[in-house]
Amino acid sequence: MIGNGSVGSAYVFAMVQQGLAEEFVIVTRHKERAVGDALDLEDATPFTSPTKIYAGEYSDCKDADLVVITAGAPQKPGETRLDLVNKNLRILATIVKPIVVSGFTGIFLVASNPVDILAYATQKLSGFPKSRVIGSGTSLDTGRFQVAIADKFNLAPESVHAYVLGEHGDSEFADLDEATIGNVPLLDYAAKRGVSKEDLLELEDKTRNKAYSIINKKGATFYGVASALMRISRAILRNENAVLAIGAPIEGQYGLDDLYLGTPAVINAQGIASVIEIPLSQNGINQMQASAKEIIKDSIE
Ligand code: LAC
Repeated sequence: MIGNGSVGSAYVFAMVQQGLAEEFVIVTRHKERAVGDALDLEDATPFTSPTKIYAGEYSDCKDADLVVITAGAPQKPGETRLDLVNKNLRILATIVKPIVVSGFTGIFLVASNPVDILAYATQKLSGFPKSRVIGSGTSLDTGRFQVAIADKFNLAPESVHAYVLGEHGDSEFADLDEATIGNVPLLDYAAKRGVSKEDLLELEDKTRNKAYSIINKKGATFYGVASALMRISRAILRNENAVLAIGAPIEGQYGLDDLYLGTPAVINAQGIASVIEIPLSQNGINQMQASAKEIIKDSIE
């Protein structure tokens, strides 16, 4: 775990609760906090799963299966994720190299924002195969949309089969046309219950802006993203071949190339086994390409 802010700490806690790893090393500039967090987290292990947790150095990444990068400045009220790009790219550059120098040969999972740009930068800085550099992408946004739809129809969130695609940010969008509930197209399922496409688009907008709402109320988000990171980590560490929304390397899908973007992918112990290109309508393709433009524009600036 690189970075020991709220997200990093919540992630390790989630992983310990699930018993997903034998050992965690917390690497951060804030050494005292890392030692304290490790001591606190180890007190959870007698009630959950025997796990070794300690504060360490980049050299400890050598034998790791997975390095999760959460280090970086978090969004403040009024800030967009893309506002963080220059600051967090500078921080990332000081992180990736020492990890590679340690001899690490596992998988990178990047959560620091703007995550699509930072996942791309991690792949470039590390020189790792694209399949071994995963962004958290729209995993959290997809979960948020599932929650919003599930609340609307009194369903369990995992029963809503829908994806949020594109940037993990203001240009993300929900793929309403392909979403289903019980193999019934979401639009039909909703219409039969008096819920219009406009109502669903309002839920998409609520999803897109949920982080701002949480940050304005409690100052940061961390449980949702930590759980999304835990879910991706589980698919890797248990070699699940699970289909999950992530930030994936795009190489021709959706008419795009050479960037990371939120889309489903098959995740296993090798990382990204394959990227899934949803057969979007022309409107969907347009939204995906518009989202990509936002990411490219800001990464150049
Ligand atoms: C959020 C942060 C993780 O969406 O970008 O909560």
